[in-house]
Amino acid sequence: MSLSPANPSAPRAPRIALFAASARRDALSKRLAAACVAPLQAAGADVMHLDLNDHTLPLYRGDEEAAALAQGSLPAAVVALQQVFARAEAFLVVTPEYNGSIPPLLKNTLDWCSRPNPADPARSGGVLYANKPAALMATSPGPLGGMRALFHARDVLGYLNMIVLPQQLAVGRAHEAIAEGKLIDERQHKTMVGICEALVHATFKLGSHP
Ligand SMILES: Cc1cc2nc3c(=O)[nH]c(=O)nc-3n(C[C@H](O)[C@H](O)[C@H](O)COP(=O)(O)O)c2cc1C
Repeated sequence: MSLSPANPSAPRAPRIALFAASARRDALSKRLAAACVAPLQAAGADVMHLDLNDHTLPLYRGDEEAAALAQGSLPAAVVALQQVFARAEAFLVVTPEYNGSIPPLLKNTLDWCSRPNPADPARSGGVLYANKPAALMATSPGPLGGMRALFHARDVLGYLNMIVLPQQLAVGRAHEAIAEGKLIDERQHKTMVGICEALVHATFKLGSHP
């Protein structure tokens, strides 16, 4: 499938939101997310590489939401991230593992953005996720690579009606596994590239973009 500008009937590059579910400056999950940029682009994606530090949301509290809605909208930081998620046609999430599950940052981010905003119903709530392809990867300094977080993340994204790819990657001993923006292990690198390609392919097939 050609994406050449010379071919005006070619489909536009699908927009894929890529982020690590960590706020840590030198996060291992951020290193893996960064390593996914080039393979996603090579597969034809328009990569929206996000740093959740640029989208600091409050901890979800119903009273805070109600107070914001009484003023007419959700908190500004939530609205800003919802607008980014609304543009995304697929998601690639790289998650750390916290006590055998996903970090609260990931759940909090997904939960806030899942809230409907009567001021902007087309760019808030469940529509931000529903029927969009998603791929999952995990990192950990431990040997299992965050595998348990992957299963929980899959449940959460599935609940949000995302189409979660069966392929996934857990990178153990991640502090040693990624160098110069690449996975050192050839097999792991191939798996990572394969997931990126599968996600872009699924977005072309299933996505709502023209
Ligand atoms: C609250 C907490 C719980 C953790 N639980 C796990 C765990 O269950 N499994 C694991 O492999 N690592 C666990 N870790 C270690 C993290 O994998 C490690 O801190 C990792 O570097 C965090 O991801 P990041 O580098 O992407 O920020 C935990 C860390 C924290 C802060």
